[in-house]
Amino acid sequence: MANKSKQIVWGVRREGRTLWTRNAVKGVSVRGERRKRDGRIEWRRWDPTRSKVAAAILRTRDDPSTLLPNPGSTCLYLGASSGGTVSHIHDFVCGVDNHHGGQLVAVEISPRMVRDLVKLSDRRPGLVPVLGDARKPEQVAAFIRGKANWIHQDLSIADQAETFVKMATSFLAPGGIGILSLKAASERSSEGDDNSRFQKAERILMESDLLLQERIDLKGLEEQHVVFTCSSSTGN
Ligand SMILES: C[S@@+](CC[C@H](N)C(=O)[O-])C[C@H]1O[C@@H](n2cnc3c(N)ncnc32)[C@H](O)[C@@H]1O
Repeated sequence: MANKSKQIVWGVRREGRTLWTRNAVKGVSVRGERRKRDGRIEWRRWDPTRSKVAAAILRTRDDPSTLLPNPGSTCLYLGASSGGTVSHIHDFVCGVDNHHGGQLVAVEISPRMVRDLVKLSDRRPGLVPVLGDARKPEQVAAFIRGKANWIHQDLSIADQAETFVKMATSFLAPGGIGILSLKAASERSSEGDDNSRFQKAERILMESDLLLQERIDLKGLEEQHVVFTCSSSTGN
């Protein structure tokens, strides 16, 4: 893997159009993804057609490392589902037995999905599954150890931008990174075509105290999806 691959951050490598994370639980795939060995290290394939964060890394025009949290960070993941993307973030933020000392709080409203997250967290210390409503800061506050260096929100509901601004205002640390994944079909249908729905979300972000960095179209990887990347202003 060494020659043709490029490190994005510790534990994340790009090889052509494929991404890999350094598996924190050797010998185990989370959703049937390919694994491969490189000496004593095992890598898991991070599928960009099943993860908007992975798709955004491949599509960004910025330095992709600016979209990802560093090992040992505090991270908040809103809309964790059964933990597919969460497991890859955990691979490099926490690592084997959480030797990096990271924390990844994964909030999900569906009890069935949270059951899967709890199972995942058994072998992934540092991963904190929370059964709760990601629109309500008070349901998250008790579980996170401080402000988050990185937030990703991926909820299949309407009016996501407002929720994102509210949650980032409550939890994003100064200089932290916020990523909002938006699906056109989930936004309110009375307000025009896909583009005008994305524009509405963009306006809300621009009018907030967050600094909008980039709007990334995921066409070809995740249809009708865009990802907005933001940072918190360092002064708050
Ligand atoms: C598109 S899926 C997330 C996929 C996941 N991010 C991944 O890449 O593996 C959206 C998830 O958000 C959850 N969700 C919807 N509304 C929610 C809310 N208010 N609070 C927490 N989770 C919510 C859904 O149950 C669903 O599992």
